[in-house]
Amino acid sequence: TLVCVHYLALGLEITSTGTTPIEVASGQTVKLDCQFNLAQADSGPLDIEWSLLAADNQNEDKVVILYSGDRVYENYYPPMKDRVHFSTPDPKNGDASINLSMLKSSDSGTYQCKVKKAPGISSRKMQLIVMVRPSKPRCTTEGQAEEGKNIVLRCSTPEGTKPIQYKWDKITDSKLLPASAVLDPVEGTINVRNVSTSASGTYRCVASNRVGTDECLLVLKVTPPQNTAGMIAGIIITLLLLLLIVAILVFCWLRVRRRKKYEKEICNEIREDVPPPKSRISTARSFTIGSQRSSLGSMSPSNLPEYTLKSQYDKIPSSEEYERPPSQAPLPPPSAMRMGGPSLNRMGAIPVMIPAQNRDGSIV
Ligand SMILES: *[C@@H]1O[C@H](CO)[C@@H](O)[C@H](O)[C@H]1NC(C)=O
Ligand SMILES: *[C@@H]1O[C@H](CO)[C@@H](O)[C@H](O)[C@H]1NC(C)=O
Repeated sequence: TLVCVHYLALGLEITSTGTTPIEVASGQTVKLDCQFNLAQADSGPLDIEWSLLAADNQNEDKVVILYSGDRVYENYYPPMKDRVHFSTPDPKNGDASINLSMLKSSDSGTYQCKVKKAPGISSRKMQLIVMVRPSKPRCTTEGQAEEGKNIVLRCSTPEGTKPIQYKWDKITDSKLLPASAVLDPVEGTINVRNVSTSASGTYRCVASNRVGTDECLLVLKVTPPQNTAGMIAGIIITLLLLLLIVAILVFCWLRVRRRKKYEKEICNEIREDVPPPKSRISTARSFTIGSQRSSLGSMSPSNLPEYTLKSQYDKIPSSEEYERPPSQAPLPPPSAMRMGGPSLNRMGAIPVMIPAQNRDGSIV
């Protein structure tokens, strides 16, 4: 075992050192260092193996590139196809370093360089962190930029490896942030309470992490406070005016409708009242005639159409006749018939007709 220890101690040795993680921006190229010294005793063939170690026990380590039997074997690991090469054309001279190009954040991990030349064997691990630069941030305002209000200036970048720092400054006017501004460099916000018009201007936010920076500009325009009382008064006045107009329209419409109705009623009244005086006279006359005829008709029941005509006339005045005082009643036949009652009716038309004529005559 002593011999063994002796061999290991004096045998193959990787001379590259360093334990701090290597931080590189995405898209860049990194050289993973793995220099080695061979010992005289190491007589076997030289093997160099680079692998990406699994982050957990579930996954297997992935061989990335291989040097064996004086040959380089690339493209072992499909995600790194054509992006991994030995740094020198001939690694057997003591430089097993590799270059990784066009780095992606998924390339992050622990890499192991293992050099074997039996009986010598040695390995080295190193941690690579591929950091994504902050993409162009977005500068936005939250809240109403009105004097006296509270607003928030927000800066955020959708991409970029954390931690990302946000820095705000004002690039116009006094170049001073509002006195009431409260900055949050991690969230990227500025809280401004009771903002004043002097806060107006152009602001710049710079988002940065260890591998890059980017910025956005924000133009803030704080407006004077609006006269809310005046605005409310204006709204109320407008509403009242609208209501008034609606009321006038409704009133006019109702009047027009009422007038139309009224005209209709008047027409009806005219039809009912005005012509009836004429018709009353005519009915009275016709009644005298009708009654005469009816008397005749009653004598001769075959004269039906005239009888029906008479009964039609009978219907119109009868209702009015009832309300009239008997002295005014110019129509004796129906009244007489009614007043006379069934007894007269039974007696026949002739006795009815005679007083009618008498009365008619007395009135005329
Ligand atoms: C690897 O990278 C180093 C430095 O980054 C550079 O000097 C060297 O030429 C690169 N090798 C190859 C093969 O690209
Ligand atoms: C807001 O600021 C104005 C002056 O800019 C001040 O007069 C007022 O009292 C402040 N209001 C509050 C609530 O702090």
